[in-house]
Amino acid sequence: MSNRPLNVGLVGGGKGAFIVHPHQRAIHFDGTRRVVAGALFPDPKIALEEAANWPYPIKGYASYDDMIAANKDLPAEQKLDYILIVTPNFVHFDPAMKSMKAGIAVFCEKPLCLNLTEAKELVKTARALNVPFGVAHTYLGHWTSRFARYIVSSGLLGDVRWVDSYYLQGWLATKLEATGQQQASWRVDPKRAGGSGCGGDIGTHALMQLRYVTGLDVMAVSAQMETFVEGRALDDHFTIYCKLSNGGKALVRASQICIGMKNDLGLVVAGTKGTLTWRQETPESITVCLPNQPDRVYWRGAVTGGDGFLPQDLPADLIAEPTIPAGHPEGFHDAFARLHRCFEADVRKWKAGETFHSDGGKYASVEDGWTGIAFIETCVESSHQHGAWTAMPKKPNS
Ligand SMILES: NC(=O)c1ccc[n+]([C@@H]2O[C@H](COP(=O)([O-])OP(=O)(O)OC[C@H]3O[C@@H](n4cnc5c(N)ncnc54)[C@H](O)[C@@H]3O)[C@@H](O)[C@H]2O)c1
Repeated sequence: MSNRPLNVGLVGGGKGAFIVHPHQRAIHFDGTRRVVAGALFPDPKIALEEAANWPYPIKGYASYDDMIAANKDLPAEQKLDYILIVTPNFVHFDPAMKSMKAGIAVFCEKPLCLNLTEAKELVKTARALNVPFGVAHTYLGHWTSRFARYIVSSGLLGDVRWVDSYYLQGWLATKLEATGQQQASWRVDPKRAGGSGCGGDIGTHALMQLRYVTGLDVMAVSAQMETFVEGRALDDHFTIYCKLSNGGKALVRASQICIGMKNDLGLVVAGTKGTLTWRQETPESITVCLPNQPDRVYWRGAVTGGDGFLPQDLPADLIAEPTIPAGHPEGFHDAFARLHRCFEADVRKWKAGETFHSDGGKYASVEDGWTGIAFIETCVESSHQHGAWTAMPKKPNS
């Protein structure tokens, strides 16, 4: 294909929507991708109005069905290269399936969908049609997440014994949904959010961060899913003890009732040689703690090998990934941009008929999305049985 910017179509994003905005900024970050179209709202009239009022010109559609159907008749230069799904969880599966079947790549918000039946179908279809499919687990896009993954996979911490992966928020500590607040309303509704509230919303981020950084899988869970705010149908507090694929143990915990806490996603990886800590609210550095030594604080953009802990030669692609010098802070938008940049690379390869990977190394894959849903369903089952150890299902085709 030509080197024109990739064309992106939005599904969702109108009228007070949240996550579309960081995404659309990140899409435009490099000048090599642009939002050109959108089906922004469930009501067709409002969808068209919202598109007409978008901050820059885009083609508005009354529905994502219309947007996907129209694509086949567009000239090559105007065709959509991928769609971005930023709707509530119950509107992920349908546009993702239709988009793949129409030959359009998919970048979808997390959690992947509502249940394991849908998740299996998405994995099967993405594999059968060989379409790039990314899941928006934002925090993998921090350079320090890449670096932490390198440290663990290189064996520098020894064998992983224990991981504490947590995501603590306070914004649902009261019955915010009763006020009609848009983001709260659908997140506490099982029909629109899925089988778990807090676990699906942010526990899946904690799980993904654990899996990405350690390369380990969760094999079985003992789950306590609790609801502190009276009258809420889904959990707002999620505490999961896990058995890991290497025999280690982990705690994956999430809460939305920790008053005053914002987005405290963090990870502690304890190995047989040392411990690593990472926090998304301060994502520019990670700390490595070694016995009888001062802690080592590694800053994005200022890491050199051969320092007595890191080997001399660090992977060239890892060192090349930062976009600005150390000390000029990167953040949430940069993390999203890194995900879109890596997804773009796969979409361009796919369009050129080359092999692409979509293997979870640079952004979460559809299989990672499946794992998030499998984790939630296994936790629900365990929690119903008062925390009984419950095995995760086998991965599709494994
Ligand atoms: N990756 C992250 O860090 C992160 C952060 C927040 C939310 N999310 C995820 O993003 C998704 C959206 O969350 P949000 O907080 O932005 O929700 P939101 O309620 O703010 O926005 C959802 C948008 O989807 C639109 N919509 C609903 N049904 C539609 C349909 N049929 N057609 C077109 N548009 C439709 C709504 O009108 C709204 O514009 C959820 O899956 C959520 O879990 C991810």
